[in-house]
Amino acid sequence: MAAKRQRKPDKPRVLLVGASGTLGSAVRVELEQRHEVIAASRSSKLKVDIADAASIRRLFAQVGKLDAIVCAAGHVHFGALAAMTEELYAVGLRDKLMGQVNLALLGRDVLNDGGSITLITGILAEHPIRFGSSASMVNGALESFVRAAAIELPRGLRINAVSPNVFAESMPGYAPYFRGFEAIPVARAALAFSRSVEGAQTGQVYRVY
Ligand SMILES: NC(=O)c1ccc[n+]([C@@H]2O[C@H](COP(=O)([O-])OP(=O)(O)OC[C@H]3O[C@@H](n4cnc5c(N)ncnc54)[C@H](OP(=O)(O)O)[C@@H]3O)[C@@H](O)[C@H]2O)c1
Repeated sequence: MAAKRQRKPDKPRVLLVGASGTLGSAVRVELEQRHEVIAASRSSKLKVDIADAASIRRLFAQVGKLDAIVCAAGHVHFGALAAMTEELYAVGLRDKLMGQVNLALLGRDVLNDGGSITLITGILAEHPIRFGSSASMVNGALESFVRAAAIELPRGLRINAVSPNVFAESMPGYAPYFRGFEAIPVARAALAFSRSVEGAQTGQVYRVY
C-alpha cells in the first residue's frame, strides 16, 4: 500500500501592522521567509488605524486566528519641550502608546495558544534627544507595559518589545536630530522581531543599538 501523503503544515500566520514603512518592510522580508504575513495599515488593502480602537476591532474581526501580532507603526509628535502641550503629548499617547496597547488587548482573543505580540519602542526611551520628550515618554511606558503584561497573559501568550537605534535608512531626514548616534541597518532591527516571534522569551525589550 502506498504511504499516505503527509499534508504540509500551514505556515504560522502573522499580522504585521505598518508593513509598508521603513521598519515594516524589513520585518516583512524577514518574517515572510517562514510565515504567512498579513499586512495592515491605514492605506493598505486591509485597513487599520491603531489610534482608533474601533478600527482595531474591525481588523481582528476580519483576519481570523493568528499566531503572532507584530506592530511596526506608531506616531508621536516631535517638538521642543517649551512648545509641547497636553494636546501634542496626546498624539503619541493615542497613536504609538494606546494604539499598541489596544492591539495587544484586543488581539489576545484571536491569538492561538502560545502566540506572541511584538511592539515597537525605540532608543529614545533610554537616550533622549532634543524635541523627543514625547517619544521618550511613550517608549518608556510601552516597555514597562510589556514587562507587566507578560506575567499575566494566559495560554502561553508572549509579549515583547523591540527598541532599535535610529535606522541608517532614516538618516537622510533624521540626521540633524541624531548627531553622534550609530545608525543601524533596519534589517538588524527586523532580526529582533524574528527573535521575538520565533523565540520563546516573554517580557523582553530587545535593544538593537
Ligand atoms: N525610523 C527610525 O529610525 C526608527 C528608529 C527606532 C524606532 N522607530 C519606530 O519604528 C516605528 C516605525 O517607524 P518607521 O520609520 O518605519 O515609520 P514609517 O516609515 O513612517 O512607517 C510607518 C508605517 O506604519 C503605518 N502607520 C502609520 N500610522 C499608523 C496608524 N495610526 N495605524 C496603522 N498603521 C499606521 C504606515 O502606513 P500607513 O501610512 O498606510 O498607515 C507605515 O506602514 C515607529 O514607531 C518609530 O518610532 C523608528
